[in-house]
Amino acid sequence: MTRLAFLTDTHFDCLDPGKTQKFGRWVKSMGDACVITGDIATGDTLPARLTEFQNGFEGEVYFVLGNHDRWKSSFAQVEKDMRILCAYNANLHWLGDGKVYQIGHTQLCGVDGWYDYQCGDITERMRVGMNDWHEIEEFKKVNALATMGGYTKPLIDMLRELGQDSAIQAREVLAKCDKTKPVLFATHVPPFKEASWHEGKISNDQYLPFYTNIALGYVLNEWAKDAQYLTTLCGHCHSAGTYQALPTHHVVTGAAEYGNPRVNTVFNLS
Ligand SMILES: [Fe+2]
Ligand SMILES: [Fe+2]
Repeated sequence: MTRLAFLTDTHFDCLDPGKTQKFGRWVKSMGDACVITGDIATGDTLPARLTEFQNGFEGEVYFVLGNHDRWKSSFAQVEKDMRILCAYNANLHWLGDGKVYQIGHTQLCGVDGWYDYQCGDITERMRVGMNDWHEIEEFKKVNALATMGGYTKPLIDMLRELGQDSAIQAREVLAKCDKTKPVLFATHVPPFKEASWHEGKISNDQYLPFYTNIALGYVLNEWAKDAQYLTTLCGHCHSAGTYQALPTHHVVTGAAEYGNPRVNTVFNLS
């Protein structure tokens, strides 16, 4: 049996030096392996912090990337960094690379994911601004159009495209899975409104466009409807909750607090 610890939104960049490795040692007391569903650190600190955590944890670390993991960098650079990092550390596994891992009878896979502006208040007059848009290189141009010119369409199109890309990636990776065996699927942004837990409640209409990845939810349910069982793990909104999307599809959203990372659940996989 493998004890798989589920963590999310660890935001290791908020910890003092040395604390990330110490936290890794503590997680080791609960899990043989772990899965982290994004917002691990920021783009510029991610390789060092993941390495520190793994040095303390010592076991296999599976992860997807969240929005914060792209900050102070770019999508392209962070993905390049992750490929190099995982090539040099055999215990670090970026699930966004499309591989399916077998842990006992369970298949583990995932996609990074992104919020796709398809749920809640989705008018072209945006009432919420996300720091992602001035922290991540690829967003800077569309963010300037939105903030200075009030022209939000290119930004909305980019969010929709990121969501759709994650849905396509999910379809591809799930096609590699055996439907007669359970699957654990990791992603950052909740794929349903009902899984978008924030401050103990479902996110409100104002934030739902940025706290859900609706395109991904469609693909996950489509795959799960005739599968043995799919469990989706996610984070992003920092509050815990569960949602039974289908009789064969359960979604677990993990809680988080800046500066105080935790283990949400431990799955015993045999
Ligand atoms: Fe977060
Ligand atoms: Fe996030």
